[in-house]
Amino acid sequence: MKSQRIAIAGGQGKIGKHIVEGLLGIKQLYSLEIIVLSRSESPDVSYAGSSAPVIAVDYNDQASLQEVLNRYKIDTIISTTSGFSPDPFISSQINLLQAALTVPTFRRFAPSEFTAAPSEQVADKVKLFQMKLPIIHSLRKAKQERPDSFEFSIINCGMFMNYLGYGNTKPDGHKAFGHLGAFPYIYDLSKHTADIPGDGEKQIMYTHADDVGKFVAAATQLDVWEEHFEMAGEVTTMNEILRMCEDVCGSKFDVKYNSREDVVARMSSAPEKAIENFFMENYLAIIDGDADLKRPLNLNELVDVKPMGVQEYLLRWWGN
Ligand SMILES: NC(=O)c1ccc[n+]([C@@H]2O[C@H](COP(=O)([O-])OP(=O)(O)OC[C@H]3O[C@@H](n4cnc5c(N)ncnc54)[C@H](OP(=O)(O)O)[C@@H]3O)[C@@H](O)[C@H]2O)c1
Repeated sequence: MKSQRIAIAGGQGKIGKHIVEGLLGIKQLYSLEIIVLSRSESPDVSYAGSSAPVIAVDYNDQASLQEVLNRYKIDTIISTTSGFSPDPFISSQINLLQAALTVPTFRRFAPSEFTAAPSEQVADKVKLFQMKLPIIHSLRKAKQERPDSFEFSIINCGMFMNYLGYGNTKPDGHKAFGHLGAFPYIYDLSKHTADIPGDGEKQIMYTHADDVGKFVAAATQLDVWEEHFEMAGEVTTMNEILRMCEDVCGSKFDVKYNSREDVVARMSSAPEKAIENFFMENYLAIIDGDADLKRPLNLNELVDVKPMGVQEYLLRWWGN
């Protein structure tokens, strides 16, 4: 059965807001009820002539979570929460699921995944993603207990394409990032450099954040949720992305190809290096093949979203 009454946990956050906007874009078409769950009071989120109220919740208080989910007769929860502390990230999603399982209308949950490669594939290397695993175990258990009345989907989307906009100097250049943060990853078009894991022949997936929102919104209108939904705006090798970046910038990039040994030498457990280390763990996952696309892009096949490709994005933000 399609989703009708949808709660987005963390929906004021970076990718969360894109997903809320995707849902608000189809709200009237399908007469949806959409609410955003937040740890604090905030004004409604408005987009495309529709809006969603932000409902303050305490993820440590099951009774208050149940009350909100019951009050809005929620059938679907999409979690987009984040954070660098495993304990609150893990417990907030598990508490939300446990509360939801007591709500008669509830039957679908998407955990906060939305990663470049499924967390289960890369968590041995990318330590931060180990905190994404407990909710997946809880979801599998819930599905075993209620095979006919509950479904969940682990939704992945590759890298957010918007990071390729870092450093652009268009007058409206900040719009390149959408609601995301701005930083370079692998490619820095503002410096004409690339820092590539391995020999560049591994594939990389990119999806624009707006398209992630549209894909997830469209997925709510599918009758059946598969355990994995994969989407992409483009899947190609890192060397091919490099060629596209060089073409649009009109110059050769200064490229560093990092061997496994190069990446290991750059790793550090120092707290101030946490982000750099997270990137290096991702580089290792790419080099070792853990991050390879191992499933078909089923969401691209199942819904009618025509995502932006990398070339189109680059021309928009780096073309003349
Ligand atoms: N594919 C990619 O390229 C890529 C890149 C970045 C992130 N991601 C993934 O996207 C997901 C969301 O990341 P994001 O960067 O969009 O998140 P974010 O903006 O940093 O945070 C989302 C929201 O989470 C809520 N939150 C923070 N700490 C929480 C806690 N302890 N308990 C409950 N809620 C909490 C906050 O909402 P309130 O304050 O309103 O409660 C926040 O606005 C993550 O799973 C992340 O791994 C993917």
